[in-house]
Amino acid sequence: MAHTSVPLIYLLLITSSLLISLVHCGSFGQDSVITWGDGRGQISKDGKQLSLSLDQYSGSGFQSKNEYRYGRVDAQIKLVAGNSAGTVTTFYLPSQGPTHDEIDFEFLGNLSGDPYTLHTNVFSQGRGDKEQQIHLWFDPTKNFHTYSIIWNPQHIIFLVDNIPIRDFKNHQSRGVSFPTNQPMRLYSSLWEADDWATRGGLVKTDWTKAPFTAYYRNFNANACIWSSGSSSCSSNGPATTSDGQSSWYTHELDSMSYRRLRWVQRKYMIYNYCTDAKRFPKGSPVECRLR
Ligand SMILES: *[C@@H]1O[C@H](CO)[C@@H](O)[C@H](O)[C@H]1NC(C)=O
Repeated sequence: MAHTSVPLIYLLLITSSLLISLVHCGSFGQDSVITWGDGRGQISKDGKQLSLSLDQYSGSGFQSKNEYRYGRVDAQIKLVAGNSAGTVTTFYLPSQGPTHDEIDFEFLGNLSGDPYTLHTNVFSQGRGDKEQQIHLWFDPTKNFHTYSIIWNPQHIIFLVDNIPIRDFKNHQSRGVSFPTNQPMRLYSSLWEADDWATRGGLVKTDWTKAPFTAYYRNFNANACIWSSGSSSCSSNGPATTSDGQSSWYTHELDSMSYRRLRWVQRKYMIYNYCTDAKRFPKGSPVECRLR
């Protein structure tokens, strides 16, 4: 990919993401549990770091202890380095049950030097089919970067280093289903999907490079915790704290953020279901035509 001009905006973005990472102080030890992988997933003694690994026998995964109904979750992730073809790292919020809702980040690995694909999707009432894919504007295996989901009553916003890469709006009034009622838990996993992940399955996993490892730190959930059928928040959302950490509940993109979003879409988007005419020969889905 050609990185011809690095706009000034990008430098501003770097500074703002550094500020954001300073306020994060969550802990994997307190907030999450390794759920599978037979020792391949590990939380550091101080609870601040977590790693997931994958070999030809198994991947691994963790989940949050709490369920949320609306929230902002952030984690810093350093993805599998080197030849990661055929591996998939997921970071997603699903609800339970047959008509589940889900908000997905999936990182599809690649050959050394070839770009990861960041895949996003939103499911509501059991239906997804809202895929978008981008390449990133940095190498996600060199350093930790912050990946965030904001889920509030009006928006689902995906952010990378606090730069919005997608804003899925609540258009329920126009008949588009949007997750509002079912609580979701954070899940993350590293597993193998070489039948589809890299170049549609053409590039296979090189097991001589195993184990593959992804690293996590600074997990943070500013969220309405759902337990036994009730929320830790009032019907107006979370109580406002002095550090403004409840602002995610009413967050929407301002004009600066829209400019960033359009920059990502223009330069880095490689797939958008909204423009896939083969898939939707009768015209793109309703939400694609609404602002
Ligand atoms: C892997 O690299 C190729 C070549 O640059 C690119 O087309 C593809 O989108 C990349 N990602 C995946 C997951 O295949």
